[in-house]
Amino acid sequence: MSDGKVSEATEEQTGSLNARPDFRATSDPALQESAERGAAQLLGYGELYSLWERQQWAVGALDFSQDRIDWHERIDPEERYARMYGLSSFFVGEQRVAAELGPMMWACPEEDMRIFLCTQIADEARHVAFFDRFYSEVGVLEAGDLDGRLQETSEHLNPEFGVLFDEMLHRRVQRLAHEPEDLEALVEAVTIYHMVIEGMLALTGQHFIIEYNERVGTLPAFVEGFTNVARDEHRHVAFGARFLKDMVARDDRYRAAVQRTLAEIAPAAEGVLRPKWIAASEEDAEIFGVRVSETRAFAASALQRRLKVIGLG
Ligand SMILES: [Fe+2]
Ligand SMILES: [Fe+2]
Repeated sequence: MSDGKVSEATEEQTGSLNARPDFRATSDPALQESAERGAAQLLGYGELYSLWERQQWAVGALDFSQDRIDWHERIDPEERYARMYGLSSFFVGEQRVAAELGPMMWACPEEDMRIFLCTQIADEARHVAFFDRFYSEVGVLEAGDLDGRLQETSEHLNPEFGVLFDEMLHRRVQRLAHEPEDLEALVEAVTIYHMVIEGMLALTGQHFIIEYNERVGTLPAFVEGFTNVARDEHRHVAFGARFLKDMVARDDRYRAAVQRTLAEIAPAAEGVLRPKWIAASEEDAEIFGVRVSETRAFAASALQRRLKVIGLG
């Protein structure tokens, strides 16, 4: 949504993550240079299911004891506050998307698409459990249960988050809950969910948050789990790209639906990439050593590759 190019420093910082063989195995076009020419190979729905079976992981296997020490003794209160924007967006975001997937799964026109989305529902539940366990084991908040933690952490979100999740995505999903045969609404929902929320926002935040923690040597179990979450998200986005490519090839109405939806949600999506203490005019403001404009360019470059492969670039 910006025409900026990813800067060399950014490519360098994120190169190691994007080069991981298990990330690339998902076939997410953002990780394939050939996508620049629209030539990336996408896995089919059955292949994505098989990959899900091979890429399992367990929240319960993570040991957060060093993370607890880092959070309370090595990260000062000001930085803890600054980190809460990203953490809260992910924790609440995972809960929101887990809740919205059911009607999207029913509305898919083919069985192998529905089977894959069933695996994604399980993944999103695991992502909520990952954040909940991190928050409780590390002692991030006062609240004593999942609902309380979600409520307490929501204070850190910005208004655009509510517009994107609770209005724009939720409206499409409510429509699908009542009219599951409305494939145009499903195309719009997948555009918002897989292309924008997961593809542009979540994966951008994940790359920069993981790289920052690795650079400063903090929160090792969080980094391990969050890297697994990012791998899952690349697989989900690969499904979204495959689905939209198939639908766009089927009917021009769906091509128009993707374009219309991207234009409608662009302002809210850009707002979510910016913590609420940074004004919209502050393009050069830095979050953990990375300019807001750089994160936006990273997100835009990933979206462009995916749209080219879908047939819209
Ligand atoms: Fe997720
Ligand atoms: Fe996801």
